[in-house]
Amino acid sequence: MRVLVTGGCGFIGSNFIRYFLKTYPEASIINVDKLTYAGNLENLSDLARSSRYYFVRGDIADAPLMESLVKKGLDAIINFAAESHVDRSIEDPSAFIRTNIFGTFVLLETLRKFYPQEKIRFLHISTDEVYGSLGESGSFREETPLSPNSPYSASKASADMMVRAYHHTYGLPVLITRCSNNYGPFQFPEKLIPLMISNAMEDRELPIYGDGLQIRDWIYVEDHCRALDLVLHRGKEGEVYNIGGKCEKTNLSVAQTILDRLGKPRSLIRFVADRPGHDRRYAIDFSKIERELGWTPRVSFEEGIDLTIRWYQEHQEWWRKIKTGEYLEYYRRMYQNR
Ligand code: NAD
Ligand code: TYD
Repeated sequence: MRVLVTGGCGFIGSNFIRYFLKTYPEASIINVDKLTYAGNLENLSDLARSSRYYFVRGDIADAPLMESLVKKGLDAIINFAAESHVDRSIEDPSAFIRTNIFGTFVLLETLRKFYPQEKIRFLHISTDEVYGSLGESGSFREETPLSPNSPYSASKASADMMVRAYHHTYGLPVLITRCSNNYGPFQFPEKLIPLMISNAMEDRELPIYGDGLQIRDWIYVEDHCRALDLVLHRGKEGEVYNIGGKCEKTNLSVAQTILDRLGKPRSLIRFVADRPGHDRRYAIDFSKIERELGWTPRVSFEEGIDLTIRWYQEHQEWWRKIKTGEYLEYYRRMYQNR
């Protein structure tokens, strides 16, 4: 199987590529990544010499480049490439529109050019955030109307709608997955869990937005990768699959767990001004993928958080290098006077 992965130098993409090449010894992967601030070649440095892995630096919004890659003969495209951070989308949504919406459109148009001679499966990686925010009860189902609240989630929802339309109108063989919050190795330390772990290790404050009682559903990244593999191989074209971790936690309890595990004082927690338009609760009903594809998450939060903390302890050079330069400017902008 020959797969084009987009955004493979980011957090989930790099975990997926490693998982996929290990699971399928005959498979090969082309990874096209723009290497934005979130893309890091070091995430896949162990594969640099593999004959089954090929890296191309490029933008998914570059139509001639995408056409040249599709011409190489592919079985599937998995679209991870995105601007992925809600806070950055609040600061400036433009890159989110360009990559998440226009970039996805370029990929779809490229596939349309070659269809039906080439029937390349297009797996689009989306998020539960497209469904909006929940009250104290209930959970998102695949049929839940989209109601995105942030520029990030609105851009992801827009892309989902285009992917859906290209199936409905042109018959392209597409699949969409919507997963909850991932954590694990190689996550950029602007996201909650790696930020809290690395700040705690540096004895810095842990900034918690608002009252910290917002709820997210957490999934260990390897469980997500296993679900994507199943959807890619056995998912029904034109369908959406929710993926979740069965693990709802408040942000405050996540921060406290990390501090306790690291033996750091809970007094490092600092409550800061809330995120504008902050979604209160996400919870996901993933009974469809359980029923139809036999998938269920395997890694408990206790296990996953220990694996993740250990990874950040053993790879300090990786995140300390990131937490310099542009990152520090971002951090000051985001957290000072908040
Ligand atoms: P990430 O920010 O860690 O990585 C994104 C990658 O995409 C980076 O390597 C970046 O360089 C690349 N990229 C950005 N713009 C590009 C462009 N125009 N062309 C080519 N490459 C480009 O993100 P992530 O957390 O790994 O998320 C991957 C995907 O999964 C995203 O589509 C995101 O919306 C989705 N998702 C993430 C989560 C989560 O918890 N992280 C949950 C559900 C869904
Ligand atoms: P984040 O990791 O940015 O993911 P998302 O916004 O896509 O869910 O944030 C997870 C939750 O943690 C979210 O409710 C915002 C909150 N949060 C903080 O309280 N402090 C922080 O410094 C960050 C980055 C997030």
